[in-house]
Amino acid sequence: MRKIGIFGGTFDPLHIAHIKLAKYAKDKLGLDFVIMLACGNPPHKRNRKITDASIRHTMLKKAIEGVDGLIACDYEIKLREFSYTATTLEFFKKIYPDDKLYFIMGGDSLDYFDKWYKPDVIASLCTIAVYGRGEKHRFDEISRQFGADIVKLDGEFFDISSTKLRTDSMLLKKHTPPAVFDFISRYRLYTENDEEQVLSELLSEKRLLHSKNVADMAKRLAVRYGISAETAVRAGLLHDIAKEIPYEKALKMCDELAADLDPIEQITPPLVHPKLGAELVKCYFGICEGEITSAIRSHTVGKPDMSLLDKIIFVADMCEEGRSFDGVENIRSAAYENIDRAVILCIESTIAFTIAKGGFVHPMAYRIKKELLAKF
Ligand SMILES: [Fe+2]
Ligand SMILES: [Fe+2]
Repeated sequence: MRKIGIFGGTFDPLHIAHIKLAKYAKDKLGLDFVIMLACGNPPHKRNRKITDASIRHTMLKKAIEGVDGLIACDYEIKLREFSYTATTLEFFKKIYPDDKLYFIMGGDSLDYFDKWYKPDVIASLCTIAVYGRGEKHRFDEISRQFGADIVKLDGEFFDISSTKLRTDSMLLKKHTPPAVFDFISRYRLYTENDEEQVLSELLSEKRLLHSKNVADMAKRLAVRYGISAETAVRAGLLHDIAKEIPYEKALKMCDELAADLDPIEQITPPLVHPKLGAELVKCYFGICEGEITSAIRSHTVGKPDMSLLDKIIFVADMCEEGRSFDGVENIRSAAYENIDRAVILCIESTIAFTIAKGGFVHPMAYRIKKELLAKF
């Protein structure tokens, strides 16, 4: 029977004390390894702005790369919903039914353990390894109330909080592993980045004008179809943020940010920027996975079950006022009459253009066309 540590946290950002604690727990408790996981969407922090889970997971992976016995797990971030310790422990118990689980947590959190989701389930599935401050009498009480097996990890590990690090770059550099600090600096996390300023650095004047035109048209279409004009403008303005990053560099960034290109996107330079763009806006502007990242990600190839905003950005990209190809007027008028019809026209135009150039049409185009035609 192995002994496995589970250490979850917001990790926004992960800092050196987190790693020290995980290593200390491993040695002190004789654990075979410690699984570290960034919380998907912590219920107790619903109202606080948190860096997107996938970016926090990337920082975690960078921080513990090469550290013996520490493993980064993306279970909670893939859930994309409120994550609860009880369900996470149930997940790991299924994977490791014959092993002993140790859940590593702060003493201050244990003090209100009875308010957690399914505390009895947590207590039945693991030994709770507690670090940091907490009221000793609560430990005993909780142990009695839930039959919890609680062990104490001595020592103070956290003389710094992630909150402080996010607002002080000197402290950030001092308390984060170099690979994490480099990542934060490169992608400008935890800084107030002005959208137009960043775009003017990354895009040519022509592309910037196109982005503003897309935003304008997206705004009009959003009003026409009754969705948030503000969100549509933002998605339109940012949709091509990664468009002018050179192909090789963009591929490396996709790899680093887990942009998840499919095999066709990998080998087709113009198809790399939508998914990369969706990841970049998470870093630069703190936008979390949601309607804006979806619209950016699907603006070129589309995706099954596109939302109204996805369709609006897809269409606006194709027929904003600066576009002038045969058939663009048809798409423009269709955009205001029936957005699905406009998407179909965009796809047909792209297929014809791509085939004429001897290019390869992404199969998603045919799939979306078929899906939308079924509505008529
Ligand atoms: Fe684009
Ligand atoms: Fe575009």
